[in-house]
Amino acid sequence: MSATSPAAVVVLAAGEGTRMKSKTPKVLHEISGRSLVGHVVAAARELDPQHLVVVVGHASEQVTAHLNAGDAPVRTAFQAEQNGTGHAVRMGLEELGGTVDGTVIVVCGDTPLLSGETLGALAATHAADANAVTVLTAEVPDSTGYGRIVRDPATGAVTEIVEHKDATDEQRAILEINSGVFAFDGQLLGDALGKVRTDNSQGEEYLTDVLSILREAGHRVGASVAGDHREILGINNRLQLAEARRLLNERLLERAMLAGVTVVDPASTLIDATVTYERDALVHPGTQLLGSTHLGEDSEVGPNSRIENTLVGAGARIDNSVTLSAEVGAGASVGPYAYLRPGTRLGTKAKAGTFVELKKTVVGEGTKVPHLSYVGDATIGDHTNIGAASVFVNYDGVAKHHTTIGSHCRTGADNMFVAPVTVGDGVYTAAGSVITKDVPSGSLAVARGQQRNIEGWVARKRPGSAAAQAAQASSREPDGQS
Ligand code: UD1
Ligand code: CA
Repeated sequence: MSATSPAAVVVLAAGEGTRMKSKTPKVLHEISGRSLVGHVVAAARELDPQHLVVVVGHASEQVTAHLNAGDAPVRTAFQAEQNGTGHAVRMGLEELGGTVDGTVIVVCGDTPLLSGETLGALAATHAADANAVTVLTAEVPDSTGYGRIVRDPATGAVTEIVEHKDATDEQRAILEINSGVFAFDGQLLGDALGKVRTDNSQGEEYLTDVLSILREAGHRVGASVAGDHREILGINNRLQLAEARRLLNERLLERAMLAGVTVVDPASTLIDATVTYERDALVHPGTQLLGSTHLGEDSEVGPNSRIENTLVGAGARIDNSVTLSAEVGAGASVGPYAYLRPGTRLGTKAKAGTFVELKKTVVGEGTKVPHLSYVGDATIGDHTNIGAASVFVNYDGVAKHHTTIGSHCRTGADNMFVAPVTVGDGVYTAAGSVITKDVPSGSLAVARGQQRNIEGWVARKRPGSAAAQAAQASSREPDGQS
């Protein structure tokens, strides 16, 4: 905890978000790899608060399950009816035992662009000015729908927040708006919430009324103007969802570039908030970096790739491919047009080449699966080469079975490995083999029909055909005659 760590952060997420026109509660919609409320919770956690509580209501079971799904479950408070933001905060404080000593930060669950830095700056201003309440405001180009910040014309001090629906025409012209983010003195907040009335156009308990209640009681009221109004963008519909994704993506890419990642075309690159990277990683256009993906130093990915939950080793290359929950070793190469499915691990300098699909397969150091193959449920040793167009036949229609291939093998093109089967070290297999039995180390396995040539068959069975004429022309002196 730092000097300005708040006692509590209360996140308001009980509303339905009807304007999303969705089965999914608004705060569970995702951008940049996290739900809307997930972004807010992540920003709140940067403050290291003693308590963090999310107020849930609409679809509370779904939202609560989501908040408990990660490694760090989030405490929730239940607001049975959405009687307003003031009522929601009351429910949050009740969950924390009624009153809280120290600073309480309130944020909305639908402002995913809000950064931990901005929240920290608000908490710092609040503490430095010894305010009872500090509201985060912003100047916006269009303030329609927002609560307006009303200031005393003489002193410039904030006097009240008036909701759009309750505002006069003169007040509606104000462009400074309430972001919905506040820092409060916990004790005074608790007292003031008890005094909030519902005599407004929406018949709700407005959290915003706490500001004027405290001011009229003679307490210090302050405002902190956000540097960038886009950061407090609240999501109400899918247009705003797309806009927020664009802005957040830009911010995340900027951070990556400043950390030494080359992003060739930011406009066509998507990156999740959870992605990490090292310097001199290079990202080609049309690439999506998703989930827990990590780009190692000097790795090169894209163009046109989806790289999800994938550990990309130093100097590895992924080209025009899809990789899901996979590991690509240092200097390994994937694609063009490869598909690495969950549980795949490519060793150092290994290769999954063109039109190759790998599933739950461990590929050893320097081993190559270069062309047109399916490898599923397999372990392949080091420095082995799998011939083109091989299929690891892992499914008998009922269950999946495992294939093991040793190190330094050279398997022929167009092999089938019918699992379960084990191929030893240093094995060669003949092209076109269907390997159904284990192959001892050092063997050559041949598992295919013997070739038989029936000479003169075309001349006898297809006399006068183009094939017969071609055959005749090419063998004026046919050999092999008996
Ligand atoms: C609110 C503010 C407004 C501000 C705007 C910023 C009030 C009265 N108004 O208006 O001044 O400019 O946010 O975006 O505070 N919620 C609950 N329970 C409720 C009502 C709301 O949890 O009973 C939650 C919602 O899920 C949402 C947040 O509170 O996350 C804000 O509610 P919303 O209805 O969107 O408020 P606005 O009308 O946008
Ligand atoms: Ca809103």
